[in-house]
Amino acid sequence: MSSIVSLADRINALEESATLGMTKKARELAAQGHKVISLSVGEPDFKTPKHICDAAKKAIDDGFHGYSPVAGYPDLRKAIADKLKRDNNIEWNPENIVVSTGAKHSLANVISTLVNPGEEVIIFAPYWVSYSEMVKLAEGTSVIIDGAFDNNFKVTPEQFEAAITPKTKLVMFASPNNPTGSVYTEAELRAIGAIVAKHPNIFVMADEIYEYINFTDAGHFSIGSIPEIKDQVITVNGVAKGHAMTGWRIGFIAAAKWIADGVEKLQGQVTSGTNSIAQKAATVAFNGTLEEAYKMKEAYLRRRDLVVGLLREIEGFKVNMPDGAFYAFPDVSYYFGKSDGTTTIKDSDDFSMWILADAFVATVAGTSFGAPNCVRISTAAADEQLIEACERIKTSVAKLK
Ligand SMILES: Cc1ncc(COP(=O)(O)O)c(C=O)c1O
Repeated sequence: MSSIVSLADRINALEESATLGMTKKARELAAQGHKVISLSVGEPDFKTPKHICDAAKKAIDDGFHGYSPVAGYPDLRKAIADKLKRDNNIEWNPENIVVSTGAKHSLANVISTLVNPGEEVIIFAPYWVSYSEMVKLAEGTSVIIDGAFDNNFKVTPEQFEAAITPKTKLVMFASPNNPTGSVYTEAELRAIGAIVAKHPNIFVMADEIYEYINFTDAGHFSIGSIPEIKDQVITVNGVAKGHAMTGWRIGFIAAAKWIADGVEKLQGQVTSGTNSIAQKAATVAFNGTLEEAYKMKEAYLRRRDLVVGLLREIEGFKVNMPDGAFYAFPDVSYYFGKSDGTTTIKDSDDFSMWILADAFVATVAGTSFGAPNCVRISTAAADEQLIEACERIKTSVAKLK
């Protein structure tokens, strides 16, 4: 019996994470001696601020070596409740908060906790690769709605309302968005909230992991702060992006108590409380200064301007202006059907692979983000690398006729 036949159907049905797949190929080329510029992974290129690292060292010295409570240490849940009030105008008590092993884990927990087989989850596209796979694992049905390029890839309230059916259980989106960098305005979120208010059985999962990397003057608005739908919104956030703590693996949900209790019940059987040392570090991140986070944001903003400017000079690229996060997401469909004489580019998967092979620049095809005309380019890299990558891409695509 082959191993594929032996695996559970739910695992056979899963796609491999496209971002991780691309990173693997780029590493292979680098190991062969090629000078690969890797712009495929969604990770800050900064180190975790020192005051947060110091808190982790202290936690080790202070003996936080044992199991922690399933939903997280009380002081961390209190710090998160304070942060939500301070930054997001959301009032929840520590008992409404569950800390997990990264925002990814939090998202998966909520989907498994709320979605029954056959129930529909509306996903605003382009969307982060894992959303639809998590829904698949829960045996739910993803209903993908496309945000138009001309609306900066954002879904309109009308589109959202038209997608609601009696089977809709959840709607999920990230703002700022990965991969487009789009930010939903307060007015847009209030309009979406007004529709949600008409459907008490529908829940909203607001993924705010890029909250601090927002370049708009108005800043971040949390849909969970709208009182009429407070009990229907699950706010998901963490420390990975804003505090440059991807490897520490701390994420959280803030939600109505019955949802938080459900997530805690699931987590209690599957993973238990997350890493004790990382929790102590995250407590300091949530309670402490945001000075370093703002400095990182300024660097991402400068790089966004740099990269968008350079990409817009490339023939045929259509490039939106990201209002947050650290990605550029050019539409490269102009090159579909073109060839370098050997390889014909059919879609963004081909484009991304060809650019890796020809320019040694690792990107991620938009296919797995629900945007098959685009490729994602991370701007979380040094300026020189970004400049060189854009030059290499420009030189390579000039070969496509
Ligand atoms: C939109 C979005 N949500 C959630 C996550 C996961 O965050 P974490 O590293 O905290 O699991 C990511 C990471 O890439 C992301 O891009």
